[in-house]
Amino acid sequence: MTHQITLQNKRILLGVTGGVAAYKAAELARLLCGAGAQVRVVMSGGATAFIAPLTFQALTRQPVATELLDSGQEAVMNHIELARWAEAVLIAPATAHCLAKLRLGLADDLLSTLCLATVAPLLLAPAMNSAMWANPATQENARVLQARGVRLIGPEAGDLACGEVGLGRMAAPEAVVEALAGLWQPGCLAGLSVLVSAGPTREAIDPVRFLSNRSSGKMGYAVAEAARAAGARVCLVSGPTALPPPAVDEYVVVESAAEMMQAVMARAAAHAIYIGAAAVADYAPQQAGPGKIKKTAATLSLELHKTQDILAAVAALPDKPFTVGFAAETHDLENYARAKLSAKNLDMVAANWVGQNLGFDRDENALEVYWPGGHRQLPTAPKPALAADLLRLIAERFAVQTMKN
Ligand code: PMT
Repeated sequence: MTHQITLQNKRILLGVTGGVAAYKAAELARLLCGAGAQVRVVMSGGATAFIAPLTFQALTRQPVATELLDSGQEAVMNHIELARWAEAVLIAPATAHCLAKLRLGLADDLLSTLCLATVAPLLLAPAMNSAMWANPATQENARVLQARGVRLIGPEAGDLACGEVGLGRMAAPEAVVEALAGLWQPGCLAGLSVLVSAGPTREAIDPVRFLSNRSSGKMGYAVAEAARAAGARVCLVSGPTALPPPAVDEYVVVESAAEMMQAVMARAAAHAIYIGAAAVADYAPQQAGPGKIKKTAATLSLELHKTQDILAAVAALPDKPFTVGFAAETHDLENYARAKLSAKNLDMVAANWVGQNLGFDRDENALEVYWPGGHRQLPTAPKPALAADLLRLIAERFAVQTMKN
């Protein structure tokens, strides 16, 4: 069992909020302890109406905390001590109310207060009635939390306690443990949402002709698939390619830089990580003619305008995702890559040599990866293996950044 090794001695703060699924948290506590983790349970007032603290005390052999201002509990470990003690905070079940409170940063009980005070990764296993989960308010809360780096495990579809069938059931305790253990597996992005752009764009000259580039989409598709394999929920926005649709959660095909801009910007703020692997056209014809241009003139001039920079626009968002750009260079790779890193305010840039049969439309590639204060070389490998290495590095840097914020 991999999670037995990864959870050994890990300090897990298990938060339980008030829903019928609270009974599943007891099994979760049992599994976590069985995997060798040190488990401390904090219950909301609502949770104690569904299951007694004594159950968790017996399972974890630790006192269970319920009150923010209870002097008895505070004497055991106060909210700041608990927040510092935890290597991960897992709330299961997490009610709709819990999601809303965390999104707003409210601190009106012990659990919500320590969630504000902790720098540990936060994982939520939502559980609620399907209409409550589908409600735009809950969906928005979930999106905002995910974009901040909070990991959601589930919910799952199935029979609900209210008698309905639908999406809202808490993920099985085993699946929750698996996702939690994923935090300590290298490069794992369990529960995070990742937005990837890939492929070329096509800029119309007239209804039958376009300007484009040599990108095949292989690198970006490999990045999207590696993110999925690392446990992330992945949206791939792709320019036109000859590749089969990859196994991702959302797949959006666009044609032009303007369409890619629109598709990416509509989604970026709801993702924790954005990886711009697309070869977006830097210039596009000023105006695409309505009819096919006839070859009557001896020469033809095209007036081009600069396209908007999607990567820079994502990095300029107030609540920007962890933003990773690519840099395709034929010379002076390091200088240009570092310049892009700072000019576009990126968290990381993956630079590759292109031209002379490198980078574009090849099955292999190599990357020089830069971030503020760091650099790593990812040597030549098939694009899927290289993408997996890159994703491990992104997960590492993302975790460091999340801890800092
Ligand atoms: O698709 P393949 O055939 O597998 O080839 C892979 C690749 C070489 C295309 C890929 O590895 C790569 O380098 N992609 C980025 C190509 C590129 O456009 O690089 P750039 O240095 O021109 O742009 C820098 C960054 O700005 C890129 O992240 C790009 O997506 C982004 N950009 C550029 C222009 C623009 N208008 N908007 C952008 O977001």
